[in-house]
Amino acid sequence: MAHKAYDKISGTLAIVSTAHEGKLSGCIINSVLLAAGGKLAISVSKDNFTCGEIEKSGLFTVALLTQEVQGQVIADFGFKSSAQLNKFASWAYVKDKKGVPCLTQDVAARFACRVTDKVDLNSHILFIGTAYEVEARSESPVLTTEYYKTAKEGQVPAAAPSHVTGEPGWRCSVCGYILESDEIPDDFKCPICGRGPNMLVKR
Ligand SMILES: Cc1cc2nc3c(=O)[nH]c(=O)nc-3n(C[C@H](O)[C@H](O)[C@H](O)COP(=O)(O)O)c2cc1C
Repeated sequence: MAHKAYDKISGTLAIVSTAHEGKLSGCIINSVLLAAGGKLAISVSKDNFTCGEIEKSGLFTVALLTQEVQGQVIADFGFKSSAQLNKFASWAYVKDKKGVPCLTQDVAARFACRVTDKVDLNSHILFIGTAYEVEARSESPVLTTEYYKTAKEGQVPAAAPSHVTGEPGWRCSVCGYILESDEIPDDFKCPICGRGPNMLVKR
């Protein structure tokens, strides 16, 4: 099933942060890619306050989290909005030379980047940045999406690109019958209304 395939893509959980006109913002992401030497790519939902702030500042810092990170850090940065609160007020942090904040605890590595490219993906913006400050901060293992979901039993909200909406399978648009399979058999005939595969719609 398609959603199970997406589940196999496991990134490292990070806090992406920025600062614009003195306002600090940041959110959890699991979409960090080392795109080329010194270049990182991140995918940030347009619904996230941090996305608009990165667009305005042209700066973002990626702080890779370790497995020891407190659940409350994920709760604050992954499920609340910087529009309403300064998430950094509750946690120890440092600012880099451009004023972008980064937590000091449970961060394996920090990459402060200047936005050099961006791709509009409709729901998300793929920011590509070139690092101007890089720091390894801890030898502790990083927190992967897989570890977060299994060992920590964590949830991934809809804003994450790894979150795939919709139930797997198909629904018969005539009678509502559910076909719980990604593949439609060539000889499909609805067991309730008898219609063919052309009446099926993706759930
Ligand atoms: C495990 C996890 C992974 C996430 N991954 C992403 C991601 O890759 N991209 C994204 O835009 N949001 C992601 N999110 C959701 C944001 O962290 C969340 O929407 C946050 O509240 C946005 O905060 P903001 O409005 O202050 O920017 C993730 C959240 C969690 C808990």
